[in-house]
Amino acid sequence: MKKIILLGAPGSGKGTLAEGLTARYRIPQISTGDILRQNIADGTELGKKAKGYMEKGELVPDALVLDLIADRLAKPDAREGYMLDGFPRTIAQAEALDKTLAESGSKIDLVVYLNTPKDELVRRIAGRRLCEVCGKSYNVNNKEFAPSVDGRCDVCGGKLIQRPDDTEAVAENRIDVYNEQTLPLVEYYRKAGTLTELDGMGPVAEKLDEMGKLIEA
Ligand code: AP5
Ligand code: MG
Repeated sequence: MKKIILLGAPGSGKGTLAEGLTARYRIPQISTGDILRQNIADGTELGKKAKGYMEKGELVPDALVLDLIADRLAKPDAREGYMLDGFPRTIAQAEALDKTLAESGSKIDLVVYLNTPKDELVRRIAGRRLCEVCGKSYNVNNKEFAPSVDGRCDVCGGKLIQRPDDTEAVAENRIDVYNEQTLPLVEYYRKAGTLTELDGMGPVAEKLDEMGKLIEA
């Protein structure tokens, strides 16, 4: 099993692809965004510290995220391999990850960069809806992901809501923050020889097949 990083802007499809690939290859998806949102929902100390940053679309400080990821990577299911979704997001996070892996004689095998144009990112983020009961994700701007009944989950009938940071203003800031702080990782991993670039546009099924070929290579 490989150690994989999904690198891409907000709305580029990291979560969607990770979910599909986990189902196909049983590789655990590790999303720092999901873990942080769960901490907010549970009212933990970490959640309280992270909430303000996330609401504004700013990055949560490296020290908090690095503690969180160290705990998650130490769990038994992450021993063989994993797919990192939304981590690392800064050069400091990438260097810390490389150092931790090197200490146990390991390394990242594959970094997939989902390159997606900004107007498409904004369209996807603005259309995303989540079931408040089961968490299933929908998109009202895309027939492929639209719910059958407006505002209701196909699976459990729960109400569909918007993620608090999916408003237009916060989404714009998330994309700016990505361009400033996360995009430099493309060069970082290109130099390391682990980067593969994928066009983020196109049907999800096609993207899953392209990712599958990289994972199986
Ligand atoms: P996080 O939860 O990671 O959010 P994000 O990076 O902003 O990304 P998204 O989840 O919005 O997009 P995605 O790429 O997963 O796209 P998705 O598949 O859902 O982070 C949230 C916040 O947490 C950050 O702002 C920060 O504050 C904090 N944080 C998290 N990690 C951190 C870290 N390491 N360091 C510091 N802070 C951190 O797709 C989006 C929509 O598009 C969906 O509706 C989907 O159906 C649709 N879609 C997907 N693929 C396609 C396709 N191919 N065609 C058409 N539609 C598609
Ligand atoms: Mg996501």
